[in-house]
Amino acid sequence: MSVTAQRVAARRLSFPRVPAPYGDPEADQRLGRDVAGPVALVDPYSPMTVHLAARTAYFDRATVRALDGGITQVVVAGAGYDGRALRYAKPGVRWFEIDHPATQADKVARLARLAIPTPQLTFVAADFATDDVGAALAGAGHDQATPTLFLCEGVAVYLDLAVIVSLLRALRSGAAPGSRLAISVSTATSDERRHQFQSAVGALGEPLRTILTAEAAAELLASSGWQELPSPPERRARSLRAGFLSLEPV
Ligand SMILES: C[S@@+](CC[C@H](N)C(=O)[O-])C[C@H]1O[C@@H](n2cnc3c(N)ncnc32)[C@H](O)[C@@H]1O
Repeated sequence: MSVTAQRVAARRLSFPRVPAPYGDPEADQRLGRDVAGPVALVDPYSPMTVHLAARTAYFDRATVRALDGGITQVVVAGAGYDGRALRYAKPGVRWFEIDHPATQADKVARLARLAIPTPQLTFVAADFATDDVGAALAGAGHDQATPTLFLCEGVAVYLDLAVIVSLLRALRSGAAPGSRLAISVSTATSDERRHQFQSAVGALGEPLRTILTAEAAAELLASSGWQELPSPPERRARSLRAGFLSLEPV
């Protein structure tokens, strides 16, 4: 089980979430409570909690906007204990969660124990560092001719740069026109901040592997076949600083 995924799920329990007229938010909360277990909730005003609250809202908005716009396929890469496939389940929408086999097996077991049905959801186990993500998704029934919303939240930082590039290219290869990618990357404004962040999270046993500057993140995405969606300069600067990006296939 991924300790970082567990901590994110625990903190997310207390965040306000973007509402939608479909789905089952209580199922998501039940999963989150089960995962959180005895994990103590930390200072709600810590910079990390504030960051995670903003990140959660960003990905919630990206999801609800895409679903309201008619997207019928969602791929959650590095899903961890993200419960959006429950919270935002919508008739006619197919969800795929692709994650490391160890984390995913634990999630699947919890959902079964909690008797939370997931007919809308296909689980795909893959290690992004060694497996062919495109083939795994296609083999699980992901339709490359249908526009997809890809979510990649809080994952890139744990992957080596070369693995991020191969993941982004694999997602791009399955992205029909009209697809969207929402991704968070870790950006740091100074070496000192980068070091602090690396030590704090590295202490949990899951080392941070890739922290980029905002500009490097934008270049990396462009070289992987994704381009940023147009947004007003101020809003773009704010999301680049936070490391939250919304893209479409080039
Ligand atoms: C911090 S968690 C984020 C989980 C979720 N996206 C969220 O925001 O709640 C990081 C996730 O990345 C996944 N991950 C890390 N390295 C991976 C790899 N090499 N292959 C597949 N998944 C990986 C972990 O299994 C975990 O689910």
